[in-house]
Amino acid sequence: MLAAGVNGALRRVPAWVAYLLGVLPLAWIVWLVLSGGIGVDPVKGIEHRLGKVALWFLVGGLAITPLRRIAGVNLIRYRRAVGLLGFAYLALHLLAWVVLDMGMLWAQAAADLLKRPYLLLGITGFVLLVPLALTSNNASVRRLGRNWRRLHWLVYPAVMLGVVHYLMQMKVISTEGWVWAAALFMLLALRFWGRLGILRGNAG
Ligand code: HEM
Repeated sequence: MLAAGVNGALRRVPAWVAYLLGVLPLAWIVWLVLSGGIGVDPVKGIEHRLGKVALWFLVGGLAITPLRRIAGVNLIRYRRAVGLLGFAYLALHLLAWVVLDMGMLWAQAAADLLKRPYLLLGITGFVLLVPLALTSNNASVRRLGRNWRRLHWLVYPAVMLGVVHYLMQMKVISTEGWVWAAALFMLLALRFWGRLGILRGNAG
């Protein structure tokens, strides 16, 4: 009942609204920088917030299919927007590290990668997402056919690497960290059970 109501209301909300709402976290970060509310270490403040917003979108994107299967709420129309927004925030997160943190000094960046190996996990996650972002358009979906779905399975290892990177950058894993890890574990379990036919519905 509730799901039908939500789906009915969402039918009138076009996908571009998701892109518009997706810009709000960036506007919030810009506002914090301009108003001086970003914290004592602005570079870290920006870097961390961009990483966290990316995580919200990426994990949120993974939740869309199970949400439809289990609760009947259909947000599939917004999945591309959510995924692309996640990728865009990740690109900004990477850019913040390269430009603000490393000052585009490549030797320093290389040294930082050696010092903090979890950055390599994050970079690998980002690299895995690049082909997905590039093929998130109707022409690629048509051209790649069944291979499109196969390719987009990369989102799972990519987000897993992102979450491990997030946990590893903490000195001690916080409650919030465990919640993210548990959420991802549940989403992966649902997807694999779905694959094994325990949950009914379309793969996608
Ligand atoms: C799927 C990929 C990635 C995800 C999901 C991700 C997410 C995150 C999150 C959530 C945080 C911590 C935010 C907080 O504590 O509030 C973080 C920290 C950080 N990430 Fe990423 N990230 C990814 C890839 C990258 C890449 C490609 C780089 C660039 C090298 C990077 C550099 C950093 C840095 C420098 C920090 C701060 C670490 C520290 O303060 O010690 N991340 N990331």
